[in-house]
Amino acid sequence: MSRPSVDYDNNQHAVYAKARSISGEMLSRWMSVFAEQLPARRPLTILDLGSGTGRFSPALAATFGGPVHGVEPSDRMRAVAEAASAAPNVRYVAGEAARIPLPDASVDGVLMFLSFHHVPDKRVAAREIARVLKADGRVLMRGQFSDRRTPAWYSRYFPSLATIEQTLFPTLGETLEAFEAAGLRQLTFLEIEEVYHQTEAEAVEKLRMRGISAFDLIAEDEATAGFAALDADLAAGRATIRLTGRSDLLVLGR
Ligand SMILES: C[S@@+](CC[C@H](N)C(=O)[O-])C[C@H]1O[C@@H](n2cnc3c(N)ncnc32)[C@H](O)[C@@H]1O
Repeated sequence: MSRPSVDYDNNQHAVYAKARSISGEMLSRWMSVFAEQLPARRPLTILDLGSGTGRFSPALAATFGGPVHGVEPSDRMRAVAEAASAAPNVRYVAGEAARIPLPDASVDGVLMFLSFHHVPDKRVAAREIARVLKADGRVLMRGQFSDRRTPAWYSRYFPSLATIEQTLFPTLGETLEAFEAAGLRQLTFLEIEEVYHQTEAEAVEKLRMRGISAFDLIAEDEATAGFAALDADLAAGRATIRLTGRSDLLVLGR
C-alpha cells in the first residue's frame, strides 16, 4: 500500500486546536524535557517544523527566548496559529520539511512534534533539516513509529485507523536511516508519559471532534458505526478510556 496522506487544509484545521489542546502542566513538562536536550545558552533560535495551529510555538519562545519560526505547509492551520497562537518573537511562515525558508546553520533546535510522519520524502527533509541546523544544534522529534505503535483505547471502535496509521508512520529504523544519510545521528531516545486529557468526558468529547488525522481517511460509515458502539459502551459503563500514554522523543544531532 502506498503511504496515505492527510491535507490539513481539508478538515483538521477546523478542529485541531480544540481537539488536541494540551494542558499548561503538560506544556511545561515538554519545555523542561526539551531544555534538557537543547544547548544551554540563551536565547535559542527554534524551528517549529510542522507547527500546525501553534500549539508549542509561543511556549518555545517564552522558554528559549527565540526567535521561533513556525514553518507549516497548510495555509489554514497557519491562519489558526496566526489568530490564536501569536506571540512576541514567533512568526508563522509557509514552507515544509523539504523546503525550509531559512538560511544554512541558522537554528539551535528543530522541533518536529507529530509532523515527521506526514513528510513525503523523508531523506530530502532530513537533508534540509541538517542544512538549517547549527553545528551543535538538536532535532527534537516527538515521533510516531509504526514498529512502536500501541493500540489507542478507541482503536476497537475504528479498526481502519490502526491499519492507516501502520502505513502512514515510518519505522524508527527508516527514520534514523534518513537522518544518518544527512549526517545526523540518534543522541537520545526518551519515552515520556504524556497526559492527554484530564477526564474521561474530555477524552470522549475530543475524540468526537476527530482531530486525529487518520479520521480523514476512514469511511464515514465506519466512523458513524464506531461512535455508535462507543456511545453504547459509555451508556453501559463498559468503555475503557485511557487518559495517558507513552510518547516517543527521538533526539538527533551531529
Ligand atoms: C499532527 S499535526 C502537528 C502540529 C503541531 N506540531 C502540534 O503538535 O500541534 C501535523 C502537522 O504537520 C504538518 N505537515 C504536513 N506535511 C508536512 C511537511 N511535509 N513538512 C512539515 N509539516 C508538515 C501538517 O500540515 C500539520 O499541521
